[in-house]
This record gives sequence, C-alpha cells and structure tokens, in this order.
Amino acid sequence: MKRIAVLTGGGDAPGLNAVIRAVVKTAIQDCSCEVLGIRDGVDGFLKPDGILPMDTAQVRGILPRGGTILGTANRGNPFAHRLVQGGEEVIIDQSDAVIRRIQDLKLDALVIAGGDGTLNIAQRFYRKGVPVVGIPKTIDNDIGGTDFSFGFDSAVNCAMEAIDRLHTTAESHHRVMVLELMGRHAGFIALHAGVSGGADVILIPEIPFRMEAVVQQIRMRQEKGSPFSILAVSEGATLQGSRPVYASLGDEINAPRLGGIGEMVNTALNNQYGIESRLIVLGHLQRGGSPTAFDRWLGTNFGSSAVHLAAAGRFGHMVSLHGSQIEAVSLEQALAVTKRVDPHSNAVRTARAMGIYFGDEVPA
Ligand code: F6P
Repeated sequence: MKRIAVLTGGGDAPGLNAVIRAVVKTAIQDCSCEVLGIRDGVDGFLKPDGILPMDTAQVRGILPRGGTILGTANRGNPFAHRLVQGGEEVIIDQSDAVIRRIQDLKLDALVIAGGDGTLNIAQRFYRKGVPVVGIPKTIDNDIGGTDFSFGFDSAVNCAMEAIDRLHTTAESHHRVMVLELMGRHAGFIALHAGVSGGADVILIPEIPFRMEAVVQQIRMRQEKGSPFSILAVSEGATLQGSRPVYASLGDEINAPRLGGIGEMVNTALNNQYGIESRLIVLGHLQRGGSPTAFDRWLGTNFGSSAVHLAAAGRFGHMVSLHGSQIEAVSLEQALAVTKRVDPHSNAVRTARAMGIYFGDEVPA
C-alpha cells in the first residue's frame, strides 16, 4: 500500500478528528504510506481543490477539536449529484467521474468515516471495484454491526448536562420541561441521557406513547410531592397509531429531517391538559464541542484499525466495536439492519426500575 485517502461524510460527530489523526499517523508510521485528505465528503473528488496531501503536522493538536478538519456534507451523493445545466437543475450519476479521479490519484485504499447514508455510498463504490474500508460514525448510534459508534458518548453527555441544568430551574418553578433530543429513528440518545440525567419520562421511537399516560405520570409525581418533571423526548418518538413528526420531508438529494414532536407534546401539556411546561430543543449542540475521552479513544482505535484493515486488503469491511474488542464486519452485514433500542432490553428494564415512564402504560 503506497497511497491511502481518508474522507468524512454525513453529519459531523465528535471524534472525527481523532479518526483523521489516527489514519494519518498509522499510515505514515506503520505502513510508510502517503496520505491524502478528501475535503467535504465524496464530493471532494469532484472539486479542483478537494484533495489535500496530509502529514503529521496537519493533525497535530486536533484531538480535542469537535467537527472535522476535512469538512463534511450530508447532501453529497455522487450517485445522485445535483447540477445546474443550461439554467436547469438536473440530477446525474457522477460515480464514474469519482472512480476516474480515484484511479488518477493511484489510491490503494480509501477510508470512509460516515453514518449509514455515507457507508451505503461506500458500499456501492466497493461493488464498483474501489478499495474501500468503512468507519461507523454517528451520534445516533444506529449503525448495525458495532456496539457503539463514536460521537454517541459526547452527544449523550451533552444531553445529560442539559437534563441536569433543567432540573434546577424546573424544580424552582414547579414546571415540566420537555427536552427534544436527536437520534433519528433510534432512541439511544434519549434513553442513555434520560437514565444518566434522571429524567422522569423518556419518549423514544421504539416505544410509541400515549399523551394520557405521560400526563398521568406528571400528575402522579405532583400528588407525591414532586411538582416538576423532566421529559426526554427523542425526535423520532411517535404517538401510538401516529407517524413521526418531520421538520422537512426531504427529496432525492436531502434526507428527511425529523423535528417537532417536542413542540407537539409541549403544546398539548399547556393547552389541552393545563400543565405549565416549557420546550427546549437541544439540536446541533449535541453534535458540537470537544469529544469525550471515550469518543477520542474509539475514534483513534477505529482510524488506526481501518488502516491496518486496508493494509491487509480487507476491503468492503467496516471497523467495529464488540465488547472491548475492535473487529471487522462486512459493510453488507453492518448495513443489513439498522440498530434500534430493544424495548425488552435490560437498558429499558433498568430505566423502568428507576421509576422512569415511557408513556406506553398508565403509571400504577
Ligand atoms: O444523524 C445525525 C443527526 O444529528 C440526527 O440525529 C439528526 O436528525 C440529523 O443528523 C440532523 O441533520 P442535519 O445536520 O441535516 O440538521
């Protein structure tokens, strides 16, 4: 292996810079390899200034930094690339142009850190003969084949801190606080932050809820002398018999964006049930800032192991965490199922044992 490239795609996640640093250092130190950084995701291959030769000087001091020094894009899909031709917007498949650039650059391996969207693109390139190795990245923790993706722990800590802060003001004003959290169709962020921060109600997509059950839990707490409640609401949570609430529906280029369930719950509490509540949408704060130690550790291990996988010629695979071991799993296997919270898992059982309600049953 003489030349390797690394790119980051999809929404950013704390720990991406640890990945980039580890790829560069491992490729240079262990493989005596030249490293290129691709700017702003796969689209970088199509831009004149999209390729950046990298050495250890460029990755010095970036471990504590959030975001990605290479930039990213969650709209970049070379299989459906938006162009303006003759004043009109057209969508074309530019994957062959990307492959030609990869061949011109004489790349022996391409490391792609991304969520399920980007890893699907990676898999399609692999099928077309590109020597790809994947790295699972998402704050949502919804990628199959790995116990955890980096970024999740930082997002959970941010959400947990928000719950801690909301406790003091909620308690002082005897109010209900509705905190809407990210996670797409997986409730891991709300579940982990809710348990760690001591939320009173956790609403997640995997356990559809009823407003009446939520209200009864709030009222029961009031009767027992706790006139405040904290609700951790995953953006993908749904009312029983309803569909998720979207902020925008998306199209062939842009993914749909969830958002609005917190607003719905908050409005119902205030207007329908006469319970004073306030809405907080934590949003992109969960993706920003310095990565936790765990995400730096995982990002570093993933980046370094991805280079070793490439050196061993194990393309079409993704690095993954199983227990405490870094392993490899085929992209096909990892992408076959999206990971979701198991409503019957120990984690949910533990939350219920802590007195946390999921809005699916009326409190006893
Ligand atoms: O997948 C990560 C994530 O942060 C989701 O939790 C959220 O729904 C989405 O990305 C937001 O995406 P955008 O950056 O397009 O607002």
